Amino acid sequence: MSHSFNVAIDGPAGAGKSTIAKRVAREKNYIYVDTGAMYRAMALYLLRLGVSPEDSDKIAKACMQADISIEYQKGEQVVLLNGENVNAFLRTEEVGNMASYSSAVPAVREKLVELQRKLAKTTDVVMDGRDIASVVLPDADVKVYLTASSHTRAKRRYMELIEKGETADLEKIEQDIIERDYRDMHREHSPLVQAEDAVLIDSSNLTIEEVTERILALCR
Ligand code: DC
Repeated sequence: MSHSFNVAIDGPAGAGKSTIAKRVAREKNYIYVDTGAMYRAMALYLLRLGVSPEDSDKIAKACMQADISIEYQKGEQVVLLNGENVNAFLRTEEVGNMASYSSAVPAVREKLVELQRKLAKTTDVVMDGRDIASVVLPDADVKVYLTASSHTRAKRRYMELIEKGETADLEKIEQDIIERDYRDMHREHSPLVQAEDAVLIDSSNLTIEEVTERILALCR
């Protein structure tokens, strides 16, 4: 039986995981799996239903009705929520904040972790998230914990918004990042942690190319 090659990249919001993971995937010709997008799709579903982020019981019940799956169209991951392509709605602060609450609910995690494991079992993947090395793929071939200072991460997010022509408040963004980190790291179930055997990379003072090269070296 052939073994699929799995690269796990975990880290806090805005550390550059998706940019780096996409590059590594492209270089290796692996599939990039963005697990944050799955949690965001679930959050979108809950927001549309009007469920409160604090209402864990309702979230646990409601998530059973959400069918989330992923597909690849022209090499891009497309997230389907009950059959609808929801990619265009996932990258807002509102959805990100809801995802940070709803992803703490075990029923939500169980459902999405199962889907993630299935993908990695049969396919060479670069998967990014919060608990990939620690929970989803404990046997991953390469494990990276990618981080950067909250200030660097806020600046990156700020530049993204400005480039899209949106207005943004740098201090507010950094505050949101600090709060989200806190929730992601202190939740009871599958908190964000650096797995014991993960390699720490701090991208604060590294270019995208440098980080990508380090991970490719780990794959060799
Ligand atoms: O990486 P992101 O910002 O798209 O993630 C959105 C939220 O989902 C974030 O608050 C943490 C959560 N998440 C998670 O709990 N586990 C993952 N594997 C990926 C994301």
